Amino acid sequence: MIFRQLFDQDTWTYTYLIADPETKEAALVDPVIEQVERDWKLIQELGLNLKYCLETHIHADHITGTGKLRELTACQGIVPEQATAECADRKIRDREVVKVGNIEIEAIATPGHTSCHTAYLVNGNHLLTGDALFIRGCGRTDFQLGNPGVQYDSITQRLFTLPDATLVYPGHDYRGHTVSTIGEEKQLNPRFAGHTREQFIELMNNLNLPNPKKIMEAVPANSVCGKVAKSTSAS
Ligand SMILES: [Fe+2]
Repeated sequence: MIFRQLFDQDTWTYTYLIADPETKEAALVDPVIEQVERDWKLIQELGLNLKYCLETHIHADHITGTGKLRELTACQGIVPEQATAECADRKIRDREVVKVGNIEIEAIATPGHTSCHTAYLVNGNHLLTGDALFIRGCGRTDFQLGNPGVQYDSITQRLFTLPDATLVYPGHDYRGHTVSTIGEEKQLNPRFAGHTREQFIELMNNLNLPNPKKIMEAVPANSVCGKVAKSTSAS
C-alpha cells in the first residue's frame, strides 16, 4: 500500500493519500484547497489514478480541496451519510467499505466533534481518526452539533475497542506528532485516561477555545464541496 501523510501548515491539517501500487487507484482523505497543487503533482508523479476524495466531516477550519480535485480528475467526492453536502457524489454509511484497488477503507461513524463525523480504517490497521481522536487530545465539541457525551462514546466504544496495535493517524496535530496507536492513546491520552464520561463532558464544556479563524468561510464552502470563490481573508 502507498500511504502518505501530507501536512497543511496554515491549518495544522493532515491529508492522507492512499493508493494501491498495483492497480494505481488512489484516494485522498481530507484534502485542503490550498494544497491541491501539491497533492495533484504527487498523484501525477506516482502515476496514480485518483478515484475518491473522502471527508471525515464538514470542516470548520479549512476549505476542502475536493471540488478542485473533481475538476482536475474524474474522482468522486464521498462524505459521511449525515453530512449536509448535497454536492457529494456519494454518501458513506457506518461500516460501509470503499475499495481502492485491493485496499479496503471502512467507515466508522464517530459523531461527537460534529454530528456527521466518520473515521476511516484502512486495511484494518491504519485508522484515520479525523477530528475525533488526536494524539494525546481530541476534537472540540462546541459547534456544528458537537456533543461531548457522544464524542466520549464514539471514541471509547468505537475506536478504543480496536486492537491496541492499530495505528492512529489524526486529522490535525498542533505539537508535531505524526502517528500513535490505539493502545498508546487508551493509556496516555489525557482527555480519556482515568476520566469518567461525566468528567470528560465537564472538561470539554470548559475548554473556552476561540473559533477557528476560517469558520465563517469554511463551513458554507464545505457544504458545497469547496467549489466557491476563495476568500482572501486567511486570518
Ligand atoms: Fe473539524
